[in-house]
Amino acid sequence: MRQIFSRIVSFILLTSLLTTTLVAQRRNQPNVEAKINALIARMTLAEKLGQLQQLDGDFPTGAGRPEHFEMVKKGLLGSTLNVRGAKNVNELQRAAMQSRLKIPHLFAFDVIHGYRTIFPVPLGEAASFDPKAAEMSSYIAAKESRAAGVAWTFAPMVDIARDPRWGRIVEGAGEDTYLGAQFAAARVRGFQGPDYSRPDRVLACAKHWVAYGAAQAGRDYNTTDISENTLYNVYFPPFKAAKDAGVDTFMSSFNSLNGIPATADRWTLTDVLRNQWKFDGFVVSDYTSVMELVNHGYARDEADAAQLALNAGLDMEMVSRFMNQNGEKLVKEKKLSMATIDEAVRRILRIKFRLGLFDNPYTDESLEAKTLLAPEHRKAAREIAAESFVLLKNDNQTLPVRKNVKELAVVGALADSKEDILGSWNGDGKAADAVTVLEGIKNKLGPNTKIRYAPGCDAKCEDTSGFDKALDAVRDSDFTILVLGESAGMSGEASSRSDIDLPGRQLELVRAVAKTGKPYAVVLMNGRPLTINWLAENSPAILETWFAGTEGGNAVADVLFGDVNPSGKLPVTFPRSVGQIPLFYNQPSTGRPFDANNKYTSKYLDVPNTPLYPFGYGLSYTKFQISNLRLSAKQIAPNGSLTVTADVENTGAREGTEVVQLYIRDLVGSIVRPVKELKGFERVTLKAGEKRAVTFTLKPEQLGFYNAQNKFVVEPGDFRVWVGQSSADGLEGSFTVK
Ligand code: NOJ
Repeated sequence: MRQIFSRIVSFILLTSLLTTTLVAQRRNQPNVEAKINALIARMTLAEKLGQLQQLDGDFPTGAGRPEHFEMVKKGLLGSTLNVRGAKNVNELQRAAMQSRLKIPHLFAFDVIHGYRTIFPVPLGEAASFDPKAAEMSSYIAAKESRAAGVAWTFAPMVDIARDPRWGRIVEGAGEDTYLGAQFAAARVRGFQGPDYSRPDRVLACAKHWVAYGAAQAGRDYNTTDISENTLYNVYFPPFKAAKDAGVDTFMSSFNSLNGIPATADRWTLTDVLRNQWKFDGFVVSDYTSVMELVNHGYARDEADAAQLALNAGLDMEMVSRFMNQNGEKLVKEKKLSMATIDEAVRRILRIKFRLGLFDNPYTDESLEAKTLLAPEHRKAAREIAAESFVLLKNDNQTLPVRKNVKELAVVGALADSKEDILGSWNGDGKAADAVTVLEGIKNKLGPNTKIRYAPGCDAKCEDTSGFDKALDAVRDSDFTILVLGESAGMSGEASSRSDIDLPGRQLELVRAVAKTGKPYAVVLMNGRPLTINWLAENSPAILETWFAGTEGGNAVADVLFGDVNPSGKLPVTFPRSVGQIPLFYNQPSTGRPFDANNKYTSKYLDVPNTPLYPFGYGLSYTKFQISNLRLSAKQIAPNGSLTVTADVENTGAREGTEVVQLYIRDLVGSIVRPVKELKGFERVTLKAGEKRAVTFTLKPEQLGFYNAQNKFVVEPGDFRVWVGQSSADGLEGSFTVK
């Protein structure tokens, strides 16, 4: 397994090195712009509007819809989503090749955490603090997608999310801008590689542009209101990182931002994206978000919505047809210029050229069967899943469980649910392929252990009639694995929750198990932070496994029985109560910071300010100690850099990996600065007793921020720096920028 992992990793490293030059070459292909202009000169207005349209195929079968074939043949439809499978795709592509201008069709699909081989949900994958792992899973997803005819994925989702009520927190890399930017870039590199015309790569899409993750009250699709400065400092950077890694499409979000729906926001779509960032790809709307401009009360009617979106800088409309059906009328009425339409067409054709579709529009049908779910993909999925788990608690070395345990109870419906372990957005993943936790445990232990499985209740856990049977299994066994949490559908799109505790009566089930006095460990499956205070206080061991994907059950067993030492860290804060939300580690400092002895400081009467588990937190089966912090300089110039070094030592009895984290605080700024900011991290694997120095470099990119004029500056002044094992600890040092 290690070998395959390192082989793929070296491949990825090599291709990342080549990425810049090859992307540049493909971007600068001779004559492409001339070819595009020649094509546009021959296109009718109806054909142009056809290129700006994306429609939805038949999701369950992946086939094109009969009416779409007709449109495609006439050159009136440029893209579909959900049409997939090499044969289906080629059929529709043949129709495109019958059209007058033979402009190839573009096939899109939501490949969020795997196509057929499903990897951990993105939030879980981010817990690995291993962007290389994300690059690898995205590469494998790309390889499978392209073999199945999909050329464009609607991923990565790079929305910063600081509200765990929001179900879509599961789709991103969590609350932190720095971590989010690293994962955004890694995922783009993994999907697109050095040249996304290749048969094992896909075009990526940075979504949702922008601030979708800041939905008020954590309610999906809700309004957002974020200052421009916070956008520049917090919400934009992962998008910018995706852009710098070469992403060539963006998706406009559903929400309104500071009063303007994102799908018709000229400032974000044109001023920031095109003018400031020099983005030359195209922007697709989210599903019917052009239509929703009317619901927002921002557009009067269909034509107005179309005009507002196109004039703001949107290029392609997903599913609703307002641009397509009103374009001609708007041009006649001079509300929309032909130049604007041509520019949108130009951007889309440019990317179709970069995808190589004009040279080779078809998918090689011989690749699909041997690529999907290839054994090395499953192996990588298992390894990445194990890396994503976070050990939240482990009193008295409850975990790992001895492999020679005689009798083991496995309790909880999620323990044997093939659907749920795949997570909320699982591409073309099949439940039948998935390994559940129960199966993973059985695979691991063999015939000498007697395993008693009892669900206790279903995931909603409203009915307790199965509790007694579960408790009998617990009493009769030496050890119990209790699998609790959310069903996959409880997080993801349109799955916001106001109560983020264990669903239903699951807590009663744990309490009853605890009351038997038998040893047990809790395995959590969920797509968001949960308010698990009782578990944190009373359960001996808790392993957070998110939704771990196709090989999830094997990966859970690898960690439960000690073949893999857990190394994940939380990419998001676990609050104690919903009332603390939004709770994130890098909050701006207040004028009245917490003081236990002063009532009139920023705090609650009924709950501490601290989280249940902080950002960056996670335990191991071994112990690490960080010592000997040293800085290369006490003072640097604003354009200078310094190194921060500390020793990390494995002081426990077995090999393990620690994610060493670097945080800074800019003590005085022209705008209020966060109390702590992650600026570096490194996974360090050490044998028992081994010690190694870890060095981070702090450069102007890490030390600066966007000031009140939204200009990036490094301001002179004093900084604090920490090197630690989470956002809540670390050795502290200081330096000055002068
Ligand atoms: C709506 C979602 O918001 C978006 O993320 C997704 O890509 C589209 N639907 C297409 O499925």
